Amino acid sequence: MISYNAEKNLITLSNGKMSYVVYINPRGQLETLHLGAAWEGQEQDFSARPYVGGPELLDRASGKMYNAQNTYGVHREISSHGLGEKKDAPVLIRRENGSYVTDFRYVSHIVYKGVKPLTSQPHAKAGKDNSETIEILLKETSRELYLTYYLTIYVDKNILLKSMSIQNKTEKAVTLDRLYSMQLDLARSNFDLYHFHGRWAQERDLVKTPLSDGTFEVASNLGRSSHEQNPFMYFASPSATSDHGEVIGLNLIYSGNFIMRANVNRMKELHIVYGMNDEDFAWHLSSGETFEAPQAVISYSLDGVDGMSQAFHQFILDDLMTYKHNHAYKPVLFNSWEGCYFNFNTESVISYIDDAIKIGTELFVLDDGWFGQRNTDRLGLGDWYVNRNKIDLHKVMAHCKAKGIKFGIWFEPEMVNPDSDLYRAHPEYVPGEPEAETLTLHRHQLHLDMSNPHVVDNIYQQMKAFLEEYHVDYIKWDYNRVVMEHFSPYFNAENQGEIYHRMVLGYYDLISRIVRDYPDIMIEGCSSGGGRFDMGTLYYCPQIWTSDESDPAQRIALQYNTSLGYPLSSIGAHVNDHPITPYSTKAKLAFFGTYGYEMNPNKLTESEQAELSEIADIYVRYHQTVVEQGTLYHLVSPSESNDMCMQCVSPDRSTSIVLYMNKMKEHGMSRFVRLKGLAPKTAYKNSFDGQTYSGTYYMQVGLDLTHKAFGEFSAQLIILEEV
Ligand code: GLA
Repeated sequence: MISYNAEKNLITLSNGKMSYVVYINPRGQLETLHLGAAWEGQEQDFSARPYVGGPELLDRASGKMYNAQNTYGVHREISSHGLGEKKDAPVLIRRENGSYVTDFRYVSHIVYKGVKPLTSQPHAKAGKDNSETIEILLKETSRELYLTYYLTIYVDKNILLKSMSIQNKTEKAVTLDRLYSMQLDLARSNFDLYHFHGRWAQERDLVKTPLSDGTFEVASNLGRSSHEQNPFMYFASPSATSDHGEVIGLNLIYSGNFIMRANVNRMKELHIVYGMNDEDFAWHLSSGETFEAPQAVISYSLDGVDGMSQAFHQFILDDLMTYKHNHAYKPVLFNSWEGCYFNFNTESVISYIDDAIKIGTELFVLDDGWFGQRNTDRLGLGDWYVNRNKIDLHKVMAHCKAKGIKFGIWFEPEMVNPDSDLYRAHPEYVPGEPEAETLTLHRHQLHLDMSNPHVVDNIYQQMKAFLEEYHVDYIKWDYNRVVMEHFSPYFNAENQGEIYHRMVLGYYDLISRIVRDYPDIMIEGCSSGGGRFDMGTLYYCPQIWTSDESDPAQRIALQYNTSLGYPLSSIGAHVNDHPITPYSTKAKLAFFGTYGYEMNPNKLTESEQAELSEIADIYVRYHQTVVEQGTLYHLVSPSESNDMCMQCVSPDRSTSIVLYMNKMKEHGMSRFVRLKGLAPKTAYKNSFDGQTYSGTYYMQVGLDLTHKAFGEFSAQLIILEEV
């Protein structure tokens, strides 16, 4: 998979479907030769290749002049900075004399099976069988700073990982002003960049930005991956479709500030850098210390958008998620939030449980409001003990047990209300300059200083005390504000450029300890809906609450778009009691997600219960094999059409489920939806019109949805089964 040609100084990563080729030039710089289709037996000699556009250099000692060979026209893995090269370098470390020159050259490399794990943050699993890594050691010219560059390729999917770490072997501390995770230089720049834009309750609008001369950036400086942007994005050739053409997807295994800059230079080449956002970043790296950047994940497809998205799904499910029961059946969930908000007591919760069971609930989750003095969102965060005056949690849990269902609870561990025991006892636990006149509140709450290990310990101890007494099966881990003050009273001046990142590391430290102590608990991520929907969180949480907006009119695009980068099984989706659409529409849409409920179940009529139970039964029967383990095809995008259609096919191709939804009314339209991924010769009976056709027929002629009038926002969930 990874080969090194010592004579020609070529490193080739190849899995038979794609290749990535790097050339070590005579000056020890890494040049990118190829990202694309499998490229084997093409190991030409590149040393005599003419370079264009580089400046001439003067060798000061000998007076000789020569061609620099290192500027525009040359594609780099890690551009230098301050040395005639004007590309945006992925690493910046100023020198003691104030010089900006940063320049790493090849020293040696090793190749091994699997992935090198990072020490303090999420990363791709070490898995030895399906991946291979080359670890290239580079050294700064004239100082003892080392950069280790990691490149991984997977055998079973078109996924590449890139990351870097810096080791300081000088006698003194240095300040790292930037360490991104990757650079990608391509000789072609004719791409459209697709990325997500949004806000609370409207996350992940898909935005298409054709690349043109200059620089475009997608970033977050909010302390979380954010509602506003998302670390997942892709570059598609303008002619690419859902199943043809070149598409390059990017993501980052990180939950904090990120930045991706794509520059089309004057030569019309593409230069991408991507990693942790370096806004207000300055990492004090003492002698002997190493700093690791998060891993960047590249999904390469010549089979269009779905090729890219399917590789990401497979990577996330098999090579990223660490939840112990990740591949096991996940219970139908009922969440109490939208049904009763903070207004509940033991009896009302028990009545919720009883009625939730009637619609197939297998896991009841008590959301916000059970702890401290938390009767409104103005108080109580930080006090993680049960409010026994309000709820007898032992009784509630015993009731769930007696009824044979699981029980889950809500936490928001990284936050505190000013009106709380924790804040009164420890005002120093929040970030912000001690002499600052004000602290910024969001939803009446402050961020805890997660960079301070005492804060992490305090919350861990509180959570542990609770979890030892109450053996819950599930935690919803919420995070309802952004980081405003990124100053930690716990650290010295020289470390203040580290706080954004240290806060993220504090989150990872806390959640890792909970996972270590309670590996059977399933944790669902959440951040005012989908403000932290990223690969860093998915490492711990097999599912994430996608958005606080469950109205199908909005959700239709939200879920479709999210699933371009993330697997359906991770996309938290609940049926609520939003009045405009019927329960059956909401349930079918939620089925193409995790499937759950969030309403007052006492108010459901018998016919509504029947409508929901029907989908719950389909969930129990098919969801795990067809939706969670199956392959997803995006057939019709709701951003481009009145309709939305997605299809899942089980791994053995015996079963497929199609979700078809329309926005406006449609009368008597000819609607043939051409399906994908079926076995051509297999006969499948479909549940829409009861007819049986071959896989080829469905794929080439289509599933006929013509002869029915669909009302506004009606949804069809069509099951195709091998007969
Ligand atoms: C956030 C979440 C909601 C709910 C509330 C509780 O807004 O996104 O699902 O848990 O917090 O306060």
